[in-house]
This record gives sequence, C-alpha cells and structure tokens, in this order.
Amino acid sequence: MTVHTKPQPTKFVPAQWPRKLRSTEWFGGTSRDHIYHRSWMKNQGLPADLFDGRPVIGICNTWSELTPCNAHLRDLAERVKHGIYEAGGLPLEFPVFSPGESALRPTAMMYRNLASMDVEEALRANPLDGVVLMVGCDKTTPALLMGAASVDIPAIVVTGGPMLNGWFRNERIGSGTALWQMSEAIKAGTMSQADFLEAEQAMSRSPGSCNTMGTASTMASMAEALGMALSGNAAIPAVDSRRRVMAQLTGRRIVQMVKDDLKPSDVLTRAAFENAIRCNGAIGGSTNAVVHLLALSGRTEVDLTLDDWDRLGRDVPTIVNLMPSGKYLMEEFFYAGGLPVVLKALGEGGLLNKDTLTVSGETLWDEVKDASNWNTDVIRPVNSALTAQGGIAVLRGNLAPNGAVLKPSAATPSLMVHRGRAVVFEDIGDYKRKIDDPDLDIDETCVMVLKNCGPRGYPGMAEVGNMGLPSKVLKKGITDMVRISDARMSGTAYGTVILHTSPEAAAGGPLAIVQDGDFIELDVPNRRLHLDIPQAEIERRLAAWSSPVEQPKSGYAQLYHRHVTGADTGADFDFLRGYRGKDVPKDSH
Ligand code: FES
Repeated sequence: MTVHTKPQPTKFVPAQWPRKLRSTEWFGGTSRDHIYHRSWMKNQGLPADLFDGRPVIGICNTWSELTPCNAHLRDLAERVKHGIYEAGGLPLEFPVFSPGESALRPTAMMYRNLASMDVEEALRANPLDGVVLMVGCDKTTPALLMGAASVDIPAIVVTGGPMLNGWFRNERIGSGTALWQMSEAIKAGTMSQADFLEAEQAMSRSPGSCNTMGTASTMASMAEALGMALSGNAAIPAVDSRRRVMAQLTGRRIVQMVKDDLKPSDVLTRAAFENAIRCNGAIGGSTNAVVHLLALSGRTEVDLTLDDWDRLGRDVPTIVNLMPSGKYLMEEFFYAGGLPVVLKALGEGGLLNKDTLTVSGETLWDEVKDASNWNTDVIRPVNSALTAQGGIAVLRGNLAPNGAVLKPSAATPSLMVHRGRAVVFEDIGDYKRKIDDPDLDIDETCVMVLKNCGPRGYPGMAEVGNMGLPSKVLKKGITDMVRISDARMSGTAYGTVILHTSPEAAAGGPLAIVQDGDFIELDVPNRRLHLDIPQAEIERRLAAWSSPVEQPKSGYAQLYHRHVTGADTGADFDFLRGYRGKDVPKDSH
C-alpha cells in the first residue's frame, strides 16, 4: 500500500464533472473482470444502467442490535438511499464492526481502533467513490471518521440522533447522569432499590443515543463543528421526522460531493479542529472528545496537541445548559435551535474560524450566521454563561508529565485548588473491594487515586475515572471529592475528576508509584498536578517498579497492548497514524 504525503489544504475548487471515477475500475468496461464485478452485483436486482459511471456511494452502517443506540440505523439508511438515488448515485449499504458503549466488555474504547481499521480497509478495497458514515453511539463516530480520513474519499456523517428525554416522577432523567446520581443516592440511603428499578423503565424511552451532552452528543457536535455533517444534524431527536429528512438530504449531498471531489482532507484542516475544540467548551462537551479528536487529527496529519485543548478552550464560556454540566437534555437543545446557535455565538465572540469548508460546500459561518436562539435558558447568552471558562483544563506536573485533563464545568469550584492525602486503589478490582469498607481510612479531604485503568492497563482505558465516593462520605451529604486516574470518564458523568493521566500507570508513569498517605496538590488555575514527595523518592520508587499488567498472549488484545499509544496522543495504534490513501488495490480475478 502506498503511503501518501500529507494532503495540503488549499482553497477548494470543485473538480470537473463528468470524469472517470474510482468505481469504474470495477464496473466501467467489458473485460472479463468488469463483467465479473457487475454480474454478481446484479443478483440484487440492480438494473444495468446503474453501472453507467455514476457515483457509487457506500452507506457504512454501524447498525447493530448489540448497539442499542444505533439499532434504528437500518431504517434510517433507507432514507439515505432515497437521497442517493434522487441525486443520481448508486447506494450500496454495508455493515462494519459496531462498538456499542452499553454492552461491550472490557470497554467499547478497546474496539474503536478495530472498527476504524474495518472501515478503512472496507472503503479502500471496495468499488466506492464516496461514503455516508452512519453513526451514533460514542465510539462509532470517531471510529468511522478515523477510517474515512485515512482513505480520504468523499465522506459525510449522519448520526442517528439522541433519544427523547427521559422522565421519572416529573423530573428529567438524563442518560447516564441519572444512573450515577441514583446509584450514589442508594449508597447514601436516600433512594430505595424499588424506586431505582422503577426509574430504569423511564431511562431509555425511544431509539437513539444518550440524551445528555454525553460523548455521543458531543461527538455528533464535533462532527458538525468540524464540517463533516450537514448543519443542524447533531441535535435532531432520533424519532423526529426531521432526522429522516436529514438522512435523505445527506444522501443527496454525498453524490454532489463525489462529483466535486470534496474530500475529508479539504474539510479536516487545523482551523476546523480549532473550531471543534472551542465548540466542545461551549457545549460543555465530553472529555472523551479530547482522545477522539487527537486520534482523528493523527489520521489527517494535522499537528494537534493536548496543549491546543487548553489554549483554545480556556476562554470559551459554556453556554449550553445540558446535563451533566447543566439542567436540560438534547430534545430541548434541538428545540432551542441546536448547534448552529452555539457556533454563531462563537463566531460573534471572535472564537470561530469562519471560513472553514464544510461538506455542504459552504463555509461554516455561511451555515450558521442566520441561526436563531429560541430558548435562552437552554442556550445561554454569553453574559449569563454556565461557566465563564469552559473547555478542558490540561494539567501537568510530576504526577502527569505528559498531561492529564479535567472538565471545569463539571467540577466543584471549591475543589479546584486542593491539597489532600492520597487513598490509593491499585486497580478497579482493588477499588471495588475497598471503597465501602467501613475501615477504609478516608474522608472528603482525601484524594482518591486509581491506577492501571489507562489504554494498556484496563485494557482499553475504561470509563471508571469518576469512581463513586465511599458510602461513609456520601452519608455525610458530600457529593464530590478530588479523584485522579489514567482512566476516562463517561461524558454523562461529573465531578472534580482528573483523567487521562499520562503516561499511564501500566506504562510506568508516575501515577504508578503513588502510595497511601502521600500528599497531592491540585491547582487548576495554574494547571498544576503535583505529588508532594522528594524527587529522589520518586526516582527510587520508579526504579523499583515493575508493571503488574501482563501482555496478553495472543489475539486482538495482544495487538492492542503492543500498539496502543498514550491518551495524550489519542490512544490510536501507532501503525494507524497517518493517511494511506485511496489507491485501488490490484485485482485477483
Ligand atoms: Fe450509546 Fe450513550 S450508550 S450513546
């Protein structure tokens, strides 16, 4: 396979049409091989004139009944097909590995890279000129974007949309957020198990992804802010008729994108990533966006770093009042005007690169400049923002030489500068065994430290960083403590939680040598995370350290362990970084 040099973003000029397309290598001739490729396709009842050189569009579908958030995507794909046919293309739908968040073990994140490989190789090896990426649940969006970016054929995202609001006893139930709150209420003795089971029935009322500003809604917003989805896509509820309209319009649009040769490398520029980072601050988006966008930028060879997240997001106010940072859910966000209103506010505040290109062929600013805000409590004006400084704080210090992240909008202001005694859990099993032990020496001033939950350690960098507080602390009415780990946190979660500590403990990062009783200093305003023991003692402990995590003996788990990079570079595989292009592989017939 040819390794291409970095695509250079230039001012986009649509290609000439008609011209010979990639798919004509398979379908556009009278040789034995052309007949072979066409005739087998025709067993699906496709008329001969569909192979006349028109754009062949893949519908790359993460539909799966094991990924309930995406279980309606087969139905939605039919609307995409309508649009492709209307615009004169030939749609061919195909499945790819679907990493579903709610069921996969040890964690869906372990399979994001696998799914991206599936997508990349499927796109390159098949007779496709463009692709519609059908995504929804958390990892499906970055996985498909990463795969498409490494091939760089015209690609457009359509998401499945969020679930309807959950309601229980006249209160909104936010996906995930309510689950964490209720499980802590059970431990605190303020909610009964019977009520918890009754609430379960009200949590997931319709098809779609999590209804909070969790990772799925965040990544849908990132796709739109990057310019990879049509404007307004992110917030439309899964069951709203306008979601189907969006799917159909997306199908129409990809055909023109192929004719124009508008590729991911034309859209995914550094300026587009900067817009996405600022957008994440404005929506109070998930910390998971950090690892996913770093991984995606690695596929495009845009030089994005962890420090860009801190620098670009620092002055961005969080204006979207959605759980887990705020009060409302995605349904209300849609009714208020959705993401275009947020992007317009960023543009008016001088926080948007207005001339980035989107899949529509227009600039991002042209797409959003006329947006109207229909509910200023859901999407706040900047002067009444939820948090003046949203974004993601990137912390460094002797405990995190390569960085760690914290989401200020989900944290407790009084804990942003804190010194506390470490209570250490060596891994997630150790945490589960000890956390509710009445003899555990812990109070609300302590700093909870969880090790070996990073990409290699768990494996897969599970969403366990927002470890629940000890029952005896919860029973005092305390709802937050400083927590530090190399894990991730669900986008639906909250708290003063320091995540993605790099290098991870299983790779010999300083997190590995923290002991019970050490003191840790957190200073978010100065972006500092410090283990307050002498440097010589740190070096002595590191010299004596050996990894408790064994390399898996075979299979995908071994491939993952050997090749996954740190969270600070997106936890992609080292051999997948970069752009490998769309060269047609040679035929075997
Ligand atoms: Fe699938 Fe939240 S579990 S989007």
